[in-house]
Amino acid sequence: MATITEPITTPAVRETECFIGGKWTPSVSGQTFSTINPSTEEVICEVAEGDAADIDLAAKAAHAALYDGPWGKMDARDRGILMNKLADLIESNLEELAALESLDNGKPFADSSTADLPLVVDCLRYYAGWADKIHGKTIPVRGDFFVYTRREPVGVAGQIIPWNFPMLMTAWKWGPALAAGCTIVMKPAEQTPLTCLRMAKLAQEAGFPDGVINVVPGFGPTAGAAVVKHPLVDKIAFTGEHTTAQIIQREAADTMKRLTFELGGKSPNIVFADADLDEAVAGSDAGLFFNMGQCCCAGSRLYVEESIHDAFVERMLESIAGRKLGDPLDPSTQQGPQVDQAQFDKIMKYIGLGQEQGANCAAGGNRFGDRGYFIEPTVFTGVTDEMQIATDEIFGPVMSILKFRDMDEIIDRANNTMYGLAAAVWTRDVQKAHKIANSVRAGTVWVNCYDAFDAAAPFGGFKMSGLGRELGEAALNNYLEDKTVTVALS
Ligand code: NAI
Ligand code: MG
Repeated sequence: MATITEPITTPAVRETECFIGGKWTPSVSGQTFSTINPSTEEVICEVAEGDAADIDLAAKAAHAALYDGPWGKMDARDRGILMNKLADLIESNLEELAALESLDNGKPFADSSTADLPLVVDCLRYYAGWADKIHGKTIPVRGDFFVYTRREPVGVAGQIIPWNFPMLMTAWKWGPALAAGCTIVMKPAEQTPLTCLRMAKLAQEAGFPDGVINVVPGFGPTAGAAVVKHPLVDKIAFTGEHTTAQIIQREAADTMKRLTFELGGKSPNIVFADADLDEAVAGSDAGLFFNMGQCCCAGSRLYVEESIHDAFVERMLESIAGRKLGDPLDPSTQQGPQVDQAQFDKIMKYIGLGQEQGANCAAGGNRFGDRGYFIEPTVFTGVTDEMQIATDEIFGPVMSILKFRDMDEIIDRANNTMYGLAAAVWTRDVQKAHKIANSVRAGTVWVNCYDAFDAAAPFGGFKMSGLGRELGEAALNNYLEDKTVTVALS
């Protein structure tokens, strides 16, 4: 895409209703909720507020689409063709979708148009390619039998996503589910329902049969909980906070749902003295501040080897100085607001805790401006392992820099967390790099890079950071059941 320099016009909001069984409808209760523009705190529009009644209709529509409609009988290759059509439609509306994402979520258009949207398109194309390449095995067994396995869709997939990457999380969830032949009941985050609804409209235009994709906006304890409990929903894929996942795990027990979770983190980002300092600073800056720090894999424990600590801090402060905060729809904006008042309050609380617990606030620390949920890029130095800014997921533009001495010490400290989503190491020494890669208990380890994602590469957490993997071939397994067929030959 050519570089855009003019301010982007505010995108039109089109879809605000529930999408169930191929129809756009108000919620059964008639209730709506407001979605807010986080850079102005003004209401963008009202959106249908679904609850258990709407989820029931959506689950029935998804079930019917799978077992009575054309989807269950469709050739796998044709499923892939539909998915590619959706990817094409998203690509041809890329600018509008990126602007809508920025309006609803607050992320800079410069990011949504060059990161989120291209990754969405790529993810759908990657999984479109899988649709006709999912197959079972023939298995040699004792006796006169012919045994083969079929890989069948798990059924209706319930998908619950957060607000930090609304469209990308939709693509990560729809891609493997559709490739596997499942149907979908999705509940987008209450903070950011608009782009998921727009994607559902484009899926309808692409020609997905009615009921294959259903989207019900609403809140977690009502609509989300109803997806988790519904007997016609076979599987839950959830991204969000680990405490929510624990509620889901308990609630899902009654119906024995398959579960996959992609949860939070407190990812160690380790910079050795022999690293390329320029690259380590740039990568660590982006690894924490990208998306206003609202990334599950944010490098939020930044460990710097003692001998380069002061030089590193100096360069990091230069790197963030002059960062442009403001209207996300201005293409020159580098940092937008946090998503909502609750996240803003949580982050400001942690900035206060950092100061109270003795860390040194070397940059930022304040609200930016007097309108919108903007927070200055904030850097704490002198952070120690037991401070809350070093243990808790802040999910905001708050960097904690800690010192370390040597390899033995850093591995224990890196693993001293309940989380295990990601880690990074910056070094020119291949032995150090591999030692860290092998020793850190995390689902992803980046070496001399950060946030390098690809639809083909699995992503997910050890420990409290999740269950199962998203992306790649791994995610397909979340949406498939193995069926063994045994044929007596004599
Ligand atoms: P959350 O886990 O409450 O919400 C995520 C999704 O789950 C939303 O769609 C929500 O409506 C739904 N949900 C909430 N309660 C539910 C329930 N009982 N049953 C079913 N669905 C339910 O996360 P929230 O409140 O938006 O953010 C809180 C914190 O969680 C953040 O500050 C951050 O630390 C972390 N978080 C981590 C994310 C990640 O990517 N790992 C994404 C978003 C938040
Ligand atoms: Mg919550």
